[in-house]
Amino acid sequence: MLVDSYDRVVDYLRVSVTERCNFRCTYCMPEKPFSWVPKENLLTFEELFEFMKVAIDEGVKKIRITGGEPLLREGLDKFIKMIYDYEPSIDLAMTTNAYLLKGVAQKLKDAGLKRINVSIDTLIPSIAKDIAGKDVLKNVLAGVEEALAVGLKVKANMVPMKGVNASEIMDILEYCKKRNISVRFIEYMENAYAAKEIQGLKSPELLEILKQKYQFSDDGFDGSSPSHYYTMKDGYRFGIIEPYEDDFCKKCNRIRLTAEGNLIPCLYFDEALSIAESIKKGDIKAAALVLKEVVRTKPEKNRWGGEDGEVSSRAFYETGG
Ligand code: 5AD
Ligand code: SF4
Repeated sequence: MLVDSYDRVVDYLRVSVTERCNFRCTYCMPEKPFSWVPKENLLTFEELFEFMKVAIDEGVKKIRITGGEPLLREGLDKFIKMIYDYEPSIDLAMTTNAYLLKGVAQKLKDAGLKRINVSIDTLIPSIAKDIAGKDVLKNVLAGVEEALAVGLKVKANMVPMKGVNASEIMDILEYCKKRNISVRFIEYMENAYAAKEIQGLKSPELLEILKQKYQFSDDGFDGSSPSHYYTMKDGYRFGIIEPYEDDFCKKCNRIRLTAEGNLIPCLYFDEALSIAESIKKGDIKAAALVLKEVVRTKPEKNRWGGEDGEVSSRAFYETGG
């Protein structure tokens, strides 16, 4: 079992298979790309899998595949199957923008994928274009419908931003509710790569809007999910992710691996240790030591909401948030 210095059990690994993305979401990436990590620096799926085995053997129970956009990497279904075949009980999920999902959802499900999280920030095509930098909505929604049709569980993420999509909070909740998709409203997390003008809605503002139409009870946190949950009268559940809150990190159970093999203990900070060299040499013991060291050095909490108003300098597109 992996336990950090604050007695939190780390059993959730998020694996970014590429930092590249076909979107340029304003809250995540600068408009003009910058240079991507050269492809030859990426770990192969076989190498990533070698590390997945180490992590699973050490106690990881949930693996989420992220990007950038994971579906940009060819052969993803084979990677999923490798993990599934090694340990079928692993809770295998993926975060995707769903643009390329239609046509491959069944294949991913057959390989062992159980769940996906998709950003649904708007239901208006022109706003989707403003947020993602291209006309994406039709494909995204088609991807979501197909995922549901093949039986993948779907969760939606919405980042509500003032003057952009804040007026759609109820519409998105309705869209998701109708399809039994649990929606999580994520407070915008300031970071060095996002558009400077973004102003996210904070949880009290969101709740104020939702209360105009709905009644719901406050369920608080559930397990180690970072989401604060609310249940509506008919049983539908939605969440709000509040990284600026003091208790956000209390039950954090996750670490993140980048496509280059950097193991990151916390979403907020840049600190990381590489497992690339040990994995490439086939030195599984060394990789396990790096994993334990990263867990040991996991910080107590992030610095969003700190008094000095710090902004995270870590790129979310490296680890899919
Ligand atoms: N603030 C909040 N959420 C973000 N995401 C990406 N960048 C940010 C940010 N700056 C979330 C999006 C996306 C997921 C991968 O991460 O909701 O769905
Ligand atoms: Fe791409 Fe996801 Fe970042 Fe949007 S949030 S640019 S879809 S990595």
